[in-house]
Amino acid sequence: TERKENLQQKLIKLKEEKNAVILAHYYQEPEIQEVADFIGDSLELAKKAAQTSAEIIVFAGVHFMAETAKILNPSKKVLLPDLNAGCSLAESCPPDAFREMKEKYPDHMVVTYINCSAEIKTLSDIVCTSSNAEKIINSIPQDKPIIFAPDKNLGSYLMKKTGRKMLLWDGACIVHEAFSLDKLLKLYKENPSAMIIAHPESEDHILKVANYIGSTSGMLNYVKNSDHDTFIVATEAGILHQMQKDVPNKILIPAPAKEDNTCACSECAFMKMNTLQKLYNCLKNEEPEIILDNDLMEKAHRPIKRMLELS
Ligand code: 13P
Ligand code: SF4
Repeated sequence: TERKENLQQKLIKLKEEKNAVILAHYYQEPEIQEVADFIGDSLELAKKAAQTSAEIIVFAGVHFMAETAKILNPSKKVLLPDLNAGCSLAESCPPDAFREMKEKYPDHMVVTYINCSAEIKTLSDIVCTSSNAEKIINSIPQDKPIIFAPDKNLGSYLMKKTGRKMLLWDGACIVHEAFSLDKLLKLYKENPSAMIIAHPESEDHILKVANYIGSTSGMLNYVKNSDHDTFIVATEAGILHQMQKDVPNKILIPAPAKEDNTCACSECAFMKMNTLQKLYNCLKNEEPEIILDNDLMEKAHRPIKRMLELS
């Protein structure tokens, strides 16, 4: 619409005036992705945040992502359009309870999925994302026991992939646990030539029937390079915008959710809290801003830095 385009133009002008960069996750609304300087998965966004020379970083994503960008740039202003854009995985791992678990297993190395709070990162030895998790686990000496948090689905997938036994925190992503295996198999029967691709945050029974498992960027690359022309995509539906742009002639079908919410697919309500209007307001007013304690940032930086060095 005219209003949307008008707002997008104003945003682009404003970010140039303010020397700001907009980083957006693939799960953001298309109208947000369209004005972003960079769209990526969690790892790519963290890398971009570590490299940017912009004075202001506007993070179109969820809280833990903006927090990571702030930890990588303590002297820069990092903005998040809606501070309530959380994450069920990050919420599932409260620091006090996690500290207790860690104290019970003092000889264990702590590997945390980037989808956790800054405070949990301060309790970690190394951070990982879905695109480098296997490599990170494999970099740890075989005889070193591991605690993996907070995603139990990604954790058990990694145990199978690496052959390592790990102690798992009992957390999950509500979006990736919403897929229905029955509906997925029915859809597959109707589209027998389709390839099923899934994010490793999905439950084991979904991963068992998947032809490819990978991060959001991994899935995009797979679809681009595959000879097949139909794909059933088991991750947040926002990915379909960029995917369809990459492969305009291929058929992309979102994997069905157990219960229909706003769409028949699975959407992250936290990611969708950001709107184009909120994004504009946030850059204009330079708030809401991510503010973190210096000591917390310093401690949380170590495991992120270790991950980036290995990626
Ligand atoms: P990736 O961006 O690493 O694929 O993670 C997906 C996700 O759920 C982000 O919140
Ligand atoms: Fe968190 Fe899942 Fe939403 Fe990603 S999709 S932000 S893991 S709730």
